[in-house]
Amino acid sequence: MREEITVPRSERGLQQEAAIKRLAERFAGQKMTYRITTLGCQMNAHDSEKLAGILRDIGFTEAEKEETADLVLYNTCCVRENAELKVYGRLGYLKGYKRRNPRMRIGLCGCMMQEPNVIAKLKKSYSWVDLIFGTHNLYRFAELLEEMYSTDSQIIELWDKADGIVEDLPSIRKHTFKASVNIMYGCDNFCTYCIVPYVRGRERSRRPEDILREIRTLAEEGVREIELLGQNVNSYGKNLAEPVTFAELLYMVSEIDGIDRIRFMTSHPKDLSDELIAAMRDCPKVCPHFHLPLQSGSNRILKRMNRHYTKEQYLDIVRKLREAVPEIAVTTDIMTGFPGETDADVEDTLYVIREARFDNAFTFIYSPREGTPAATYPDQIPEEVSKVWFDRIHTTLEEVMNARNTARIGKTLYVRAEEINSHDDTMLTGRSNENLLVHFKGDPSQIGSIIPVEIDEQMTYYLIGHPVGGPCNA
Ligand code: SAH
Ligand code: SF4
Ligand code: F3S
Repeated sequence: MREEITVPRSERGLQQEAAIKRLAERFAGQKMTYRITTLGCQMNAHDSEKLAGILRDIGFTEAEKEETADLVLYNTCCVRENAELKVYGRLGYLKGYKRRNPRMRIGLCGCMMQEPNVIAKLKKSYSWVDLIFGTHNLYRFAELLEEMYSTDSQIIELWDKADGIVEDLPSIRKHTFKASVNIMYGCDNFCTYCIVPYVRGRERSRRPEDILREIRTLAEEGVREIELLGQNVNSYGKNLAEPVTFAELLYMVSEIDGIDRIRFMTSHPKDLSDELIAAMRDCPKVCPHFHLPLQSGSNRILKRMNRHYTKEQYLDIVRKLREAVPEIAVTTDIMTGFPGETDADVEDTLYVIREARFDNAFTFIYSPREGTPAATYPDQIPEEVSKVWFDRIHTTLEEVMNARNTARIGKTLYVRAEEINSHDDTMLTGRSNENLLVHFKGDPSQIGSIIPVEIDEQMTYYLIGHPVGGPCNA
């Protein structure tokens, strides 16, 4: 591992700019292409936007598919084993393409690269990978690319911790009207099953002035909707030289002209304050949606997971949220098959699902991650048992979601049209204020606008409606 280097922030930015310029000159007229595949969460998705921004500035354009790209990049995730297996599988597949196309280079980055056992495996058995870097030195991408193109050997640069926050990296957004903004990096919670704190490092918050400056610039570029990103946004700002709460940040972002919707991901129940609930109620731009990972409804399991709340406290928060913002949609993450889990624990989870009346949920089967405490617990659950619990959780969730969505039939939701429907091009697909997925008749000129849509039908995971009245950007 390389030693941590301490270069003043502006100098680091300048070094990147210089590397981008040199690469642009080197590849001028060569029509270089890239393809980035992103696994994992929104943090990774946003990191990939930055990688794509750097490649665009160098002059690379996006290839239609990996097989024909000059630079193939995998931004990896290691939260569950499946995500890792996918990467090894793709590397095997790409080996043959690389042999036929000498211009092809393969790069790997992201969370999986922060695991020493992964690096050992890549070094031993995947010699055709050209570039490997991690989560803490992502901003050095341009310089690392330069190194890769100047040498014929495998370039590996990994830092075991971050050396500060680098502002102002270029970025390419999928949509012109909405953008993600990191407000913090890393996580200090050490839930016993989770690898994120080991691969993303300690919790670091960006200064509010840097966040607000970025959002103001985005608003000037036409962005209307902002999603604030962090592994645990509720603990935002605690470690800043001048501490700021997440609720205070929401009030500040609400002041920015041009922004009409503010969303955020993810919240940990243990840090959820009454001040934040009040901010949700009092800031009309803050969307009535709360993603609040439950993980388990069993107090015994929650304790073993190191989550620091009980099912009673969780349900109390949901009650307070619904009291303050009656139309709020509450979504969650649920995991089953955690070591030592029993039928009775799963019953508790089903109870909380029914009581909390979730609007949607991401559900996972526990996957042991090397280096985490839970991976060493003796009472691991066989997969066939977890699968039965997983199906029961799904069935209960779908019952609850159907009931919630059925109550929305006949109601008008405000939906931002995001894209043309992938099955029917006379329809648009968008997200309501509550973050519900809605399909409705419309035309491409409406993309980016918020349209009132009356709901006609519910299909568990999405709603179908028809527009009522004209576009409404209020
Ligand atoms: N910081 C967020 C979650 C990030 S990971 C939070 O605490 O809410 C996203 C989800 O992946 C988690 O909520 C959890 O449900 C799931 N997850 C994390 N580690 C896992 C593991 N080892 N096996 C299965 N699912 C896991
Ligand atoms: Fe993982 Fe827990 Fe941190 Fe979420 S809060 S990233 S689940 S350690
Ligand atoms: Fe995966 Fe890293 Fe996100 S492990 S879930 S991509 S923080």
